[in-house]
Amino acid sequence: MGNVPVIKAALLGAGTVGGGVCQILEWQKDEMPKKLGASVELKKILVRDTKKEREGIDSSLLTDSWQEILEDPEIQIVIEVMGGIEPARTCILEALRAGKNVVTANKDLLAEYGRELLDTAEDQGVDLMFEAAVAGGIPIIRPLKQCLAANHISEVMGIVNGTTNYILTRMTADHMEFSEALALATELGYAEADPTADIEGHDAARKVAILASIAFNSRVTFQDVYTEGITKITAADIRYAAELNMVIKLLGVARNTEEGIEVGVYPMLIPSDHPLATVNDAFNAVFVHGDAVDDAMFLGRGAGKLPTGSAVAGDIFEIVRDIQAGCTGRINCTCYKNLPVKPKEEMQSRYFLRLHAEDRPGVLAGIASVFGNNNVSIAQVIQKSAAEGTAEMVIITDRVVERHFRDALLIIKEMSIVKEIPSVLRVYGK
Ligand code: NAP
Ligand code: HSE
Repeated sequence: MGNVPVIKAALLGAGTVGGGVCQILEWQKDEMPKKLGASVELKKILVRDTKKEREGIDSSLLTDSWQEILEDPEIQIVIEVMGGIEPARTCILEALRAGKNVVTANKDLLAEYGRELLDTAEDQGVDLMFEAAVAGGIPIIRPLKQCLAANHISEVMGIVNGTTNYILTRMTADHMEFSEALALATELGYAEADPTADIEGHDAARKVAILASIAFNSRVTFQDVYTEGITKITAADIRYAAELNMVIKLLGVARNTEEGIEVGVYPMLIPSDHPLATVNDAFNAVFVHGDAVDDAMFLGRGAGKLPTGSAVAGDIFEIVRDIQAGCTGRINCTCYKNLPVKPKEEMQSRYFLRLHAEDRPGVLAGIASVFGNNNVSIAQVIQKSAAEGTAEMVIITDRVVERHFRDALLIIKEMSIVKEIPSVLRVYGK
């Protein structure tokens, strides 16, 4: 192939993902002209510290001046992999307003300011792509926006946090308690020094907000997502789940119901034969149900230098194709509906309740009658003797309205026969 156009790009950030993007663009150098009819050249890389040694990064490209990039008319693509809200938000908005196309991996930003960013891209007729923001290397944004565009999607459910999936896998396979599994995840580099966003479910909530917005064509933000983490899960819960032929996974769940969107992140018992139950270690997976496609599942690595870099580089290639074809800005915001998000109290689920109560006749009947009086139907009960005079019960409910279940729980907690309620979890199913 002879001379092809060279599209100039700037990278904002040269950390884990930025390093991966540089490596992949280098690997693809010879093939790009054939694949895209153009090649991509990184002209500048924005970092905080230009003096720091960075393996695989051409130090002559480093700058700490955003203005230098913004004011360079040759730069047509800005790749934001700095993370955080500011200055990433301002840089992206300024880049879009300057007519530059943008790729970002920043779920924190998209889950709160997605509408503002996408509207700006649309006004400017440029591309804003973010495949890496949800589930790292797994293609899910473009499949939802394009390949599955002819469906009404009714459910998106996924394991979208690798750290917590690794922890729960160790608790299940190696019978570890939470703290032991977290320590191992930290030692192996899965969990960050401050693991709060992962273990409290915030990282997954940002991803599920983005997924729900795209799947249901209606904006869902991080604040809309009811979120529970995995810090209270114990080895005992995992053992009971196994006894019920289930496993516990931290799931992001979004459903498009007639009364509105239900969206949450919480640990859930799912049947061992559900496709998501077999997704282990740090792997991610997203399960989608559409009226035409039926069930579809997307599986792969949700984080890491090269998997995440793969998604970012794929977006860069797509933008290069759009630039070549003169059609940037073709697909931006797809949220053309304004569906209500259901309040948490109105969401519906099956529940798993583990409690310790006095071991004497009538106790189970007393608890069952509180549930019955509050419209909560019981599906299954397991009862075992625990310590002297104490019974451990596990009660699984049918699908009930959260408000009814919580009302019953408040009364049960106050019953003198009930000593402790160590766990309340959700259970998959109708
Ligand atoms: P990282 O390793 O911490 O790298 C961040 C980079 O951005 C560093 O090079 C840093 O510069 C630069 N930077 C940060 N703030 C800056 C500022 N104010 N001005 C200039 N440069 C700045 O982060 P990462 O893990 O690559 O993550 C980047 C983004 O990708 C985040 O939005 C993250 O959520 C997303 N993401 C990451 C993964 C993953 O596996 N890591 C997966 C999916 C999505 P210095 O080096 O000079 O400090
Ligand atoms: N911390 C995330 C996880 C990766 O454990 O999946 C970045 O999105």
